[in-house]
Amino acid sequence: MRKKQNLILQPVLKWAGGKRQLLAQLEKYFPDKFTKYYEPFIGGGAVLFHLQPKKAVINDYNEDLINLYKCIKDNLEELIDKLKYYETKNDSESFYKIRGIDRTEEYKKWTSVERAARLIYLNRTCYNGLFRMNSAGQFNSPYGFYKNPCICNEPVLRAMSKYFNENDIEFRTGDFEEACKDASKGSFVYLDPPYDQYDEQLNFVGYTKEGFTRDDQTRLKKMCDKLIEKGCYVMISNSKTPFIVNLYSDTTKYITYTINTVNARRNINSNAKKRGDVEEVLIIGKLDIEE
Ligand SMILES: C[S@@+](CC[C@H](N)C(=O)[O-])C[C@H]1O[C@@H](n2cnc3c(N)ncnc32)[C@H](O)[C@@H]1O
Repeated sequence: MRKKQNLILQPVLKWAGGKRQLLAQLEKYFPDKFTKYYEPFIGGGAVLFHLQPKKAVINDYNEDLINLYKCIKDNLEELIDKLKYYETKNDSESFYKIRGIDRTEEYKKWTSVERAARLIYLNRTCYNGLFRMNSAGQFNSPYGFYKNPCICNEPVLRAMSKYFNENDIEFRTGDFEEACKDASKGSFVYLDPPYDQYDEQLNFVGYTKEGFTRDDQTRLKKMCDKLIEKGCYVMISNSKTPFIVNLYSDTTKYITYTINTVNARRNINSNAKKRGDVEEVLIIGKLDIEE
């Protein structure tokens, strides 16, 4: 593996689809050089924190998540204080009380740091680290009954704050297409969208209340074509479904996609029987003309 600059830097959240365990397999496809890094579906950020680029744009549709990263950058001490308080609240009664706050008027008055600390607390104490919202956008994962969850990982939070402050890292929140608009020749764009499901009926992937449909997957592929034409280096993760393999087999005269299979062990699945090894793909897009 590539030598990491700061080994302590790693995700602070458990995130469905997190790429930590796949880094060794992904790494051999990272470009040697790039001007700016774009990760429009940042989630827990395993790839970003492994690569540690000096210039990056990170984005997610989930505003609470981007708010958390901003707080780690700008309000670290206050965030750590609040997390230390939450360390005393690992019991079912406190969990449901804290989880229920987003259903009250009071939550509207909460500061961004209060919201960020609550997000880490719920993520570390809920069942399987599952970030799930109901149709009203309220957090609804159940309590996880973990004996010693790491609620305040101070060394990691400090390393992350330092990384954000000492480098040119821009935070965006919204749809992936908007987030990648200014990627240009020499940029490295890594796309890790909510995965396509074998059964289209299951294609609601609960990170956001809107879900991610096959039309979104197709929109993403079209954006990749455009980025590759601009001279970006494009890498896409997804599940190995016939739909995805077929979508990226559709190449143009100048663009080719290489579909590499990677094996992942997935633990975040609400159905215990479905946890285990699944095949994923890592797709590399390339412009086929020499300049
Ligand atoms: C598979 S996860 C990313 C996992 C991440 N690579 C990691 O290592 O933790 C997908 C992310 O896409 C976000 N998302 C869903 N729809 C989106 C959209 N239309 N635009 C941008 N982000 C979106 C979700 O909130 C979620 O965090």
